[in-house]
Amino acid sequence: MGDHASMDIHPPAERIRALLATMSLAEKLGQLTLVNGGEGRVPEELRRDIRDGRVGAVLNEVDPDTVRELQRIAREESRLGLPLLVGRDVIHGFRTIFPIPLGQAASWNPELVEECARHSAAEAAAVGVNWTFAPMVDIGRDPRWGRVAETLGEDPLLAGTLGAAMVRGFQGADLAAPERLAACAKHFAGYGASESGRDYNSCSIPEIELRATHFPPFQQALQAGVATLMASFSDLNGVPASANEFLLRQVLRREWGFEGFVVSDWESVGQLVVHGLVADGRGAARAAAGAGLDMEMASTTLREHGAALLEAGELSLERLDEMVAAVLGVKLRLGLLDGRDAVPAAVASDPAALDCAYRAAVQGTVLLKNDNGTLPLHRGAVRRLAVIGPLADEPAEQLGTWVFDGDPARSVTPLQALRQWESESFTVHYARGLETSRERGGAGMAEAVRAARRADVALLFLGEEAILSGEAHCRADIRLPGAQEELVRQVAATGTPTVLVLLAGRPLALQEVVDHPGAILCAWHPGSLAGPALRDLLFGLESPSGRLPATFPRLGGQIPIYYSQKNTGRPADPATFLSLDQIPRGATQHSVGNTSHHLDAGYTPLFPFGHGLSYTSFEYSGLRLDTARLARDGALGITLELRNTGSRAGAEVVQLYVRDLVGSVTRPVRELKAFRREVLAPGECRTVRFVLPARELAFVDRSLNWVLEPGAFRLWVGGSSVGGLEAEFELA
Ligand code: GLC
Repeated sequence: MGDHASMDIHPPAERIRALLATMSLAEKLGQLTLVNGGEGRVPEELRRDIRDGRVGAVLNEVDPDTVRELQRIAREESRLGLPLLVGRDVIHGFRTIFPIPLGQAASWNPELVEECARHSAAEAAAVGVNWTFAPMVDIGRDPRWGRVAETLGEDPLLAGTLGAAMVRGFQGADLAAPERLAACAKHFAGYGASESGRDYNSCSIPEIELRATHFPPFQQALQAGVATLMASFSDLNGVPASANEFLLRQVLRREWGFEGFVVSDWESVGQLVVHGLVADGRGAARAAAGAGLDMEMASTTLREHGAALLEAGELSLERLDEMVAAVLGVKLRLGLLDGRDAVPAAVASDPAALDCAYRAAVQGTVLLKNDNGTLPLHRGAVRRLAVIGPLADEPAEQLGTWVFDGDPARSVTPLQALRQWESESFTVHYARGLETSRERGGAGMAEAVRAARRADVALLFLGEEAILSGEAHCRADIRLPGAQEELVRQVAATGTPTVLVLLAGRPLALQEVVDHPGAILCAWHPGSLAGPALRDLLFGLESPSGRLPATFPRLGGQIPIYYSQKNTGRPADPATFLSLDQIPRGATQHSVGNTSHHLDAGYTPLFPFGHGLSYTSFEYSGLRLDTARLARDGALGITLELRNTGSRAGAEVVQLYVRDLVGSVTRPVRELKAFRREVLAPGECRTVRFVLPARELAFVDRSLNWVLEPGAFRLWVGGSSVGGLEAEFELA
């Protein structure tokens, strides 16, 4: 019978040391082995491996009875009785689905993002899951990349702040509590810079950029206490992350002091052979373990070759014990060594989760355009509503990518929500228009145009099905797929007021359609409560407050385009820039201005980072700094007045940006340094204050150190990364 874990009073390190001393080599290698579950059954090989201590963790098992049986085998039939880690991609919900992470990021609301994660954890823990492979804190600056849907956007501060909020939501203050999950910050590191936005492609990132942009969100996840990290698939500067000693030992352990464990991505250790880094599985195990990887997902090279590597002195016992101790440490934190693997009887289904899903869908939706007050619609004034598009009534598609366990029965679609309001005086006419977002046009278009022509308002629900974003689902052309652009044009051409609602997993290149609808709402993939949230936003029961966490380019060819770009030596100049159609015949070589722009797209995005409209309006005034000269060890007080100058309540995301005018390396034209969501009643005026510590002005210099350099700085406070009240100050 297993040597049962009992409430042990010794300090963790001692307990782990004592446990290690009793473990055989096979049992140690077993703890480093994460294999796929049987998806509702217990295959004989898995049963045997758990009993023999050859497996320490499983993933993708969410049937509570099966999880119970797996844990029973581990606890009662294995020699050591070590319960299993049970991992799952609980990325943005479990049964109840919240907006995709990019959509949650658009709320700019850490407390709400934390709440979503907390509900996700409770629902997953209720079936016996105790580890989630989230948050993904890769920086997403290339919307061609399908996984931009899973990112928290293009900015390190926003992504890091929200990633840390997810860690707190998943793990809570006491990770051993039964409704909590161990979190996993991923994918370490630089995955978002996959060349050409093609998934699994090479990443070439200068170390200065790694440290300045890609590392900070992971550091914030570590500061939030994240229990585990996942190494990326990527070949980073020639060394795949799963065997990248610089990442896994130099940065993660020696510089950051990380104490949890690093798990590979799916078969990414075995794939070191495919990368051509090593010749065989033995070489893969040696390279990964030697570089600082601790646990292997799906491939089992460590278990197969660990003994031989030890025998040959190519893996030290000290390193092996270090790996096992890291895993045992997380099991200890999770309470697994003190009896926490019991699967709670009831499967949680908390109505508060649905309320949270509604609020997240509301707050994550961004009003991109609203000409002449197209929105909000007024219920009494709309008698005939045309609902058009392949995404108006798709309970599964609206959930977005990475939704293994989402319950479509909990979904309410936009069409369903609007039909709930139908009455004598309010009729809804649904015309799909296109079978799918990819359809290149057909008979449905004419019917949709007819419905629009007969309606008071036409609502277009267009974008991408869930399959068009997420892992491996990259697009080279990020315009609306299929014949959707034509559908927008034809519906708008009827003259009926038209609103475009985007359901998509990425920023889209909307240049060809942006002028046609009177209003455009970007809802991303909003999750279970997409319908009520969008209905209430469209009809003004809720006021849009989302702000873009990622830039919307005009054309895909502008990518990468993000707000915190460098100035270059020849920044584009509105005074000299000529677009293609402005260039006169016979233009000579230097007649169009030698500055940094695209002739066919200019040099600005269609909608910038931080952008989002409201149904009210806000006025910023009275910007004042506590001092014009900031001491290196001081903090700068920044105060301003914010007034709701409209006729209805609304939320404004006040954003603070800074520019370091001169540095020993070139500095971005703007960097987000703080933000806060303020809800104001009509006419309300509020004093808003930020305190910016001087250390937040540090940057990575040529020697790859974070440094503070004296000099002049400019700051802006406003409602997006463009414009805002401006001031200057000096750092002493
Ligand atoms: C996938 C993903 C990773 C996920 C893992 C387990 O390939 O890259 O994000 O957590 O495998 O499903």
